[in-house]
Amino acid sequence: MSAAVQEPAGLDVILRSIDLQIAWCRGNGAPFTANILEVIRDNLSAGGVLAPLVVPWNGNPLADALALRVAGALHLMVRTERAGDLAAFYPGHGDAPWDGAAAARAVEAAVRTNLDFVRDVLTRPPQTNETGRSAVLMPGYATIAKETGLPLSILEVGASAGLNLMWDRYAYRYGDRFVGSPDAPLTISAEWRGPWCGVEALPRVVSRRGCDRSPFDLTAPDAADRLIAYVWPEQTERLARLEAAIRLAQHEKPVLEKADAAAWLEQNLAAPALGVATVVAHTIVWQYFTKETRTRARAALDAAGTRATAQAPLAWLSLEQYAPDQLPELRLAVWPGGEIRTIARAHPHGAWIEWLGA
Ligand SMILES: C[S@@+](CC[C@H](N)C(=O)[O-])C[C@H]1O[C@@H](n2cnc3c(N)ncnc32)[C@H](O)[C@@H]1O
Repeated sequence: MSAAVQEPAGLDVILRSIDLQIAWCRGNGAPFTANILEVIRDNLSAGGVLAPLVVPWNGNPLADALALRVAGALHLMVRTERAGDLAAFYPGHGDAPWDGAAAARAVEAAVRTNLDFVRDVLTRPPQTNETGRSAVLMPGYATIAKETGLPLSILEVGASAGLNLMWDRYAYRYGDRFVGSPDAPLTISAEWRGPWCGVEALPRVVSRRGCDRSPFDLTAPDAADRLIAYVWPEQTERLARLEAAIRLAQHEKPVLEKADAAAWLEQNLAAPALGVATVVAHTIVWQYFTKETRTRARAALDAAGTRATAQAPLAWLSLEQYAPDQLPELRLAVWPGGEIRTIARAHPHGAWIEWLGA
């Protein structure tokens, strides 16, 4: 019996996926990106320059985030000064008032002069690394340090470019509370909801390492712009935060290994580490794991948990969206013991955190 082969997606399916993204952007504070996506949709339906690049699409346009790939390709052209007249409309690049017809002509011209470049960008899955999530992780890390009385040794899976591995180098502002050094290269602001967690200072981190199936190498040409291109251009605060974190990462070079999360955890949790709290951390990653990776990663944590002691404790700190219609939850387990607690809920990019208590 042969396995079902997925038919390439035709124009109708592609346009539907773009319309969904337009509606999402309109409802979520991204009107400029919605406008750009409308230009993209109209270009495709009129058989413009983008059509032969994406129709038919050999995959699932929604699952492959096709709309974000095309919008990201245009943003990347703007950021790398390939976009000609199109740049004038982009926030922070020209800020010209929106003119749909002129933008449509500019998209057609920019893509026509950069065909190979755009084709190449479209082959890559959009990759992101959201530093705002550090503002959600931070009180979780501080809780682990407080409960164990030990400095932290961090293992982050699905770390992307490693920007959240440097969370203790950032400072945090939650309303009128400030945590961290006033000289920090980046201050991340988030709204705090619920009772204050009690953190006064950032805990000590003695080691940190991350893995990713495809680690993002920030030293490669155009790398920073490629990561930034998938942030919506009108989200200027998010862009500035990302740019500052990238500058720090280019200097600090957080250690990132190319590995599947499960195999990496099995290897790195094989022996307990004395005198530190080993923390396995991840944000918005679990949903991308295969069933096998989830099962093996969980088994590696449970096995390491049974070996943990008060002098060599293990913690599992995760910010994950466990169902598509649910808000991300910050969960914590600390071994010995290992009971999983939901300690906060949060906005997916860390715009706010609702502390539920440790
Ligand atoms: C949505 S991104 C989140 C990145 C980062 N954790 C953040 O919050 O900004 C998901 C990341 O998981 C990585 N990933 C997916 N499956 C993986 C696996 N089996 N092992 C390691 N990394 C994986 C992807 O390459 C990608 O960098």
